[in-house]
Amino acid sequence: MDLPFDGAISSFFETEAPQPIRDAIRRGERGDILSPTYPHSDRLARKPYEGDLRALQIELVKLQAWVRESGARVVLVFEGRDGAGKGGTIKRFRANLNPRGARVVALAKPTEKEAGEWYFQRYARQLPTASELVFYDRSWYNRGVVEEVFDFCTPTQRKHFFQQVNPFEEMLVDEGIHLFKFWLNVGRAEQLRRLMARERDPLKQWKLSWIDVEGLKRWDAYTQAIAETLTASHTETAPWTIVRSDDKRRARLAAIRTVLHGIDYARKDVKAIGKIDNSICGGPDVWD
Ligand code: ADP
Ligand code: AMP
Ligand code: MLT
Repeated sequence: MDLPFDGAISSFFETEAPQPIRDAIRRGERGDILSPTYPHSDRLARKPYEGDLRALQIELVKLQAWVRESGARVVLVFEGRDGAGKGGTIKRFRANLNPRGARVVALAKPTEKEAGEWYFQRYARQLPTASELVFYDRSWYNRGVVEEVFDFCTPTQRKHFFQQVNPFEEMLVDEGIHLFKFWLNVGRAEQLRRLMARERDPLKQWKLSWIDVEGLKRWDAYTQAIAETLTASHTETAPWTIVRSDDKRRARLAAIRTVLHGIDYARKDVKAIGKIDNSICGGPDVWD
């Protein structure tokens, strides 16, 4: 099997990764939590995870039924570094939903036509109609983070984005759209471990791109761009929910619970939803 990048990710691990990151990965068994600041010492076991997930998915089905009946519109934005678990989280949200009415939007880099439009235009085109949930796997926040880190936009364009993003989201909320913004926060060693695993797995290689490879070297530039973006766009109307995602299972449960607690749908069973793990999920204070 040809690896798409000639093992570029494992070669980054061998030669360029900072020593503490390398050590954490070498020391770690497959199941170990690698981030020294993660608030749990081990991963959530499969059994309790699957039990909770099932209860939550039953609630999500009720949520969707209510969305369809009431004509509500729901937007869920998923952001995070490469390998943070955006796609996997969205997959669990949608597992038992009717795909007609629970759409994923994962836009590629802008075409020439799109590049000539207002920056928000192609994302706005994908907003839900009545009775729809839309999951954005990356979003307009590309301009705050990846476009900055890779110089895909000018400083002026980014400044303009920051002037427009809060009014834009206020309009969505004012329009009656239920808006959730998730920032999945993965630690550096865990990110590298996941990207190496993708590189080895013929079923996951499609998730890799040169951006992931090059991005590994730009961890600090990302950190800076992320901090600026979160600071500029964490508002009362459209707050961020930060979810530490070193343990994917806990992260998925916390994200789903946030949405279920956040909408008053018919036949809601608050007890079945259970408590959000506030040590890994909440406002900017849960950042590692
Ligand atoms: P993934 O979303 O699978 O992690 P990548 O890591 O390859 O995809 O890319 C990250 C984001 O950067 C994507 O949303 C992609 O559309 C965007 N992107 C890639 N190239 C460009 C570009 N030249 N200009 C603007 N955005 C880009
Ligand atoms: P990291 O190395 O990824 O943990 O980056 C954390 C850095 O980004 C710290 O300097 C934080 O002050 C900043 N930061 C992270 N998250 C937020 C946030 N939600 N709001 C404001 N600053 C943040
Ligand atoms: C992730 O966050 O795991 C991926 O990089 C993005 C995705 O699968 O959507």
